[in-house]
Amino acid sequence: MRSVKSSVKGSKTAGTRLAVLIVIVVQALGLGAVWPQEPSEPRLDKEFDKQEKIYRSRGADVPRGYVTGRGLSDYAELLPTDFCNALGRLGSSDRWLDIGAGSGQSILDYYAPEDAAAPAEKCGGSGAKARAVAMSIEDRRTDKWQQQAASLGDDRIRYLSGKRLRDYAPVELGKFQIITDVFGGFSYTEDLSRFVARVLSLLEVGGSFYTLVPGVHLENAKDKLGILYLTELEDAAGRPERVCSWLKKTTCVQVTCESKSDWKRPTELINIRKVCNDVSVPRLKLWEFEAGYPPARRFQLEP
Ligand SMILES: C[S@@+](CC[C@H](N)C(=O)[O-])C[C@H]1O[C@@H](n2cnc3c(N)ncnc32)[C@H](O)[C@@H]1O
Repeated sequence: MRSVKSSVKGSKTAGTRLAVLIVIVVQALGLGAVWPQEPSEPRLDKEFDKQEKIYRSRGADVPRGYVTGRGLSDYAELLPTDFCNALGRLGSSDRWLDIGAGSGQSILDYYAPEDAAAPAEKCGGSGAKARAVAMSIEDRRTDKWQQQAASLGDDRIRYLSGKRLRDYAPVELGKFQIITDVFGGFSYTEDLSRFVARVLSLLEVGGSFYTLVPGVHLENAKDKLGILYLTELEDAAGRPERVCSWLKKTTCVQVTCESKSDWKRPTELINIRKVCNDVSVPRLKLWEFEAGYPPARRFQLEP
């Protein structure tokens, strides 16, 4: 457990090196990750409190690794290949929800006027713009956001904060053609199956959810030895399960995963397209959670 957190914070202590060695040995023996056997409520509560402190951090207290200002070009690099084209196909009455938007910079970039002096191929194209909703637990709006929202008017861009995705009634949010999540709820939630079910309930049929998840067992099985995983899944019998194979058990969706084995952490870029309304996401139970950015989590599939 300590070892996972140390890696999250990027420290290079002797403890971390020893933990990495233990992980390598454990993996070489085919024993999987080193986690406690039973979920412990008091330990989980302590970690949830620490996570809240990260969300609430301001100014110099914001941990360096807790990045909240990625722009649209970062989203283009971090999300599945099709994301920019799909954004470009949206019309002015369509809707895009960015869950875990931080400062909402990607939406500001999407609405930024073209640079006439140096025209560039912008993610999402230069045509009509969809209405966009940024969602964040904590309010990280900047002056730039306030100015842009006021100048666009008509609720073209909205910023929702003060609660998590699960705390919104469906009517408060409406439906979306595109939902994104870049190091947002998908990487941070302690209830992953409920989170995915809620996301899919907000998607129109034919719409897509674009996200990524770092530090996972890859679908293409090309992760290297010695990785400290951040999100681990196991089936009801305790055997390792890949995030993508779990997602593919969901009904009424098409799941595409792009495995990035050469990134610093093995990362899966995920596109979930909703194809009909009868969505059912196999339930996961949280077994372990360690606060971080993103946190380390272990889930088990419910029988
Ligand atoms: C590390 S920041 C990422 C911000 C932005 N996407 C970026 O890449 O710069 C994490 C964001 O996810 C939000 N978040 C985490 N869990 C969430 C949830 N369940 N519902 C809504 N927002 C969530 C946080 O409040 C924060 O805005």
